[in-house]
Amino acid sequence: MDILDDAFDFDRYDHVRPIRWTGDALELLDQRHLPFEVGYAACRDSDEVAAAIHALTVRGAPAIGIAAAWGVVLAARTIEAGDGAAALHALQPALERLNAARPTAVNLAWALARMRRVLAGAGTGWRDALEREARAIEAEDLAANRRMGAAGAALIAPGSGVLTHCNTGSLATAGFGTALGVIRAGVAQGRIARVFAGETRPWNQGARLTVWELHQDGIEATLIADSAAAHLMKTGRVQWVVVGADRICANGDTANKIGTYQLAIAARHHGVKFMVVAPSSTVDMDTASGELIEIEERDPAELLAFRGTRTVAEGVDAWNPVFDVTPHALIDAIVTERGVVERPDVDRMRAVFGR
Ligand code: MRU
Repeated sequence: MDILDDAFDFDRYDHVRPIRWTGDALELLDQRHLPFEVGYAACRDSDEVAAAIHALTVRGAPAIGIAAAWGVVLAARTIEAGDGAAALHALQPALERLNAARPTAVNLAWALARMRRVLAGAGTGWRDALEREARAIEAEDLAANRRMGAAGAALIAPGSGVLTHCNTGSLATAGFGTALGVIRAGVAQGRIARVFAGETRPWNQGARLTVWELHQDGIEATLIADSAAAHLMKTGRVQWVVVGADRICANGDTANKIGTYQLAIAARHHGVKFMVVAPSSTVDMDTASGELIEIEERDPAELLAFRGTRTVAEGVDAWNPVFDVTPHALIDAIVTERGVVERPDVDRMRAVFGR
């Protein structure tokens, strides 16, 4: 029996879509202004897409990969080329600018590599081939999320509480979400009785996005300050921490939103299980372990002000790394659409992802 045979009504708990292709523009649900302004920003060329990825207009590892793929389709409109190989050459600068938009999530480079591969093998129909590939990347992501939702929820005992971090939902993917997909599935199946979301300072993905997204779908969630997580675990109200990933290394070490690592440490201390949920496009078997991952550092201004109002004394500086790496030894399960890797290490990762 397939894991999806026993699934549920996916659409009932999944209404938000962050990326819309109109045929001549890429529309991105502008996540900088949620939850109070719900509006789409239109990108008409690939540099606008790169800027939108950098500015977090669109964010979340799978979503930035999908946006970048559509960025290549837009870039293709600005060049003339007789076949895919010539187009690939002409598109190289645009591809590099898209790739440089954010460094940590491997999905960006993965999606661009797929677009490059398609071009390299395409003849005169290379424009259509590019568009088909962007559409496929998006459709495959939604399908993977639904599969992971069912597989991850199956690990959770009925009546459990979960804590999640950042936003890993429909907003961060083609739809349904990764960790939030597991939560959607777990709630629908009655396995998850309580959902807690950390606010995710400094950009507040949890406070501004996750609880809003869940509210849109009729799923009750309780927001906590990031600093309340260990105390919550001590109360016994959560049995699992369920998070997404930006890059999973060959040994299972996982980069994700800053704060994930301390959640994993606190979870282990309190006997709470720790689950990472990500599509295989987030798995990077070329990177051996977490210390080799480039960690994005953003403008300290994100820490020094809130919605444009300075909250910290003038003259004070800040350090703003926006991802951290959770060592594989602190992870109980990595859930992907290709399978679940329990207590991940290099051999167990290889058994599912090869190499
Ligand atoms: O800086 P962000 O908001 O792009 O960071 C997002 C995360 O860290 C997510 O947990 C990760 O990308 C997985 S999204 C399905």
